[in-house]
Amino acid sequence: MVRYKDSQELPVLVEEPVIREAVLRLGRDISQDYASKTPLLIGVLKGCFVFMADLARALTVPCEVEFMRLSSYGAGATSSGVIHVISDIQTSISGRDIIIVEDIVDSGTTISFLMEHLISHSPASIKVCTMFLKGSRANFPFNLDYVGMEIGAEFVVGYGLDYAEQYRFLPDLRVLK
Ligand code: IMP
Ligand code: MG
Repeated sequence: MVRYKDSQELPVLVEEPVIREAVLRLGRDISQDYASKTPLLIGVLKGCFVFMADLARALTVPCEVEFMRLSSYGAGATSSGVIHVISDIQTSISGRDIIIVEDIVDSGTTISFLMEHLISHSPASIKVCTMFLKGSRANFPFNLDYVGMEIGAEFVVGYGLDYAEQYRFLPDLRVLK
């Protein structure tokens, strides 16, 4: 278990007000695009929980929320590449306008898997919203519709993102040294 004091010594990559601005911008963009619709936000646990809460409150259209739990990373800082559904959505998404909400997209493996999984349940539309994008990996075979901000290739924690379940509580984004 890390001590709070240790977490404060990690270098800050993105300050809290900068994150807040980006979330508000995403909220405005999504609200414009979904005027007169009720999108279903599907968050990928656990990392999305902070971003999802902020994003939902930044919308000026009504939304519903669902969560999925996937595993691909285990306790380490590099992806195993193998994804399992630990907990699936509990509602029908047929005919719904889906927005997948991710904390961070790195290789794109998680998002590719989710797109395929959800498309097979015939939603009306499906888009992706990620708070952070690791810029070095930006060449995916699909479109990232909403991106909060691009960052470098460093492993980051805070704003919901963890390393071995630690640091999710940090309100800013920090680099794990
Ligand atoms: P991808 O499948 O390689 O795109 O990885 C996406 C998932 O890996 C995210 O949902 C995170 O849970 C995790 N992840 C990727 N990079 C980081 C990081 O820098 N810090 C914490 N988690 C990360
Ligand atoms: Mg995640």
